[in-house]
Amino acid sequence: MSDAAPPARTAAVIPAAGRGVRLGPGAPKALRALNGTPMLIHAVRAMAASRAVSLVVVVAPPEGAAEVKNLLDAHALPERTDYLVVPGGETRQESVRLGLDALPDDIATVLVHDAARPLVPVDTVDAVIEAVRDGAVAVVPAVPLADTVKQVEPREKGEPEPVLATPDRAALRAVQTPQGFARDTLLRAHRTVTGNVTDDASMVEQLGEPVVVVPGHEEAFKVTRPLDLVLAEAVLARRRVTDGF
Ligand code: CTP
Ligand code: MG
Repeated sequence: MSDAAPPARTAAVIPAAGRGVRLGPGAPKALRALNGTPMLIHAVRAMAASRAVSLVVVVAPPEGAAEVKNLLDAHALPERTDYLVVPGGETRQESVRLGLDALPDDIATVLVHDAARPLVPVDTVDAVIEAVRDGAVAVVPAVPLADTVKQVEPREKGEPEPVLATPDRAALRAVQTPQGFARDTLLRAHRTVTGNVTDDASMVEQLGEPVVVVPGHEEAFKVTRPLDLVLAEAVLARRRVTDGF
């Protein structure tokens, strides 16, 4: 026996407590099926596909925690992957914080991954983890934009909106998840940064800590609107043909 500390582990926190208002009426978004399997299960499997991930913490809709636990019990994960289910909060940020609160002490690297990005490839997950293990405190997968972006003066829905600026598209990236963090940095960000944010890396930016971008993947898109369900099912159908999966 040596006195060396046990190896630091990596966990993935999956916020899945949103309603999915933009997807339209129905079950909470994470529980909707994609080719017969709930979106959340696809997302959990995408994290568990990485050999580095030893724990998945699912943040469930507050009234749906028992149902989510049953779902996870019913769908096999790799032997090496443990999972926990905790009830979520009113905002994504609060849900992530509740997931972070459940992490055991030996977790050094934390991924935060939207349940709404069920199809992220394992190579993207591994690239994020590797960048954190190489010393980055915050890592974001991202892709170049297809559309030109205008900054506008927002008006009521349907009203013409004055354009204020056109940022150089070459310097813009659309960010995805999983975002990867040194655990201490992410915890500090969630303890100190308040206000409305839409991703975790921006909280780390507000601490003044460096955030880096690594290449994301087109299949890591977020299922947000009904058309995204069509795309997700098409991607799954293509995978079944090309990978027999
Ligand atoms: N999320 C969460 N807790 C909340 C709100 C969102 O855990 N209170 C999660 C969602 O379940 C989703 C991720 O955060 O996996 C990204 O959010 P988004 O795509 O906006 O999902 P929803 O908030 O569910 O969708 P909408 O904004 O259309 O209602
Ligand atoms: Mg939302």
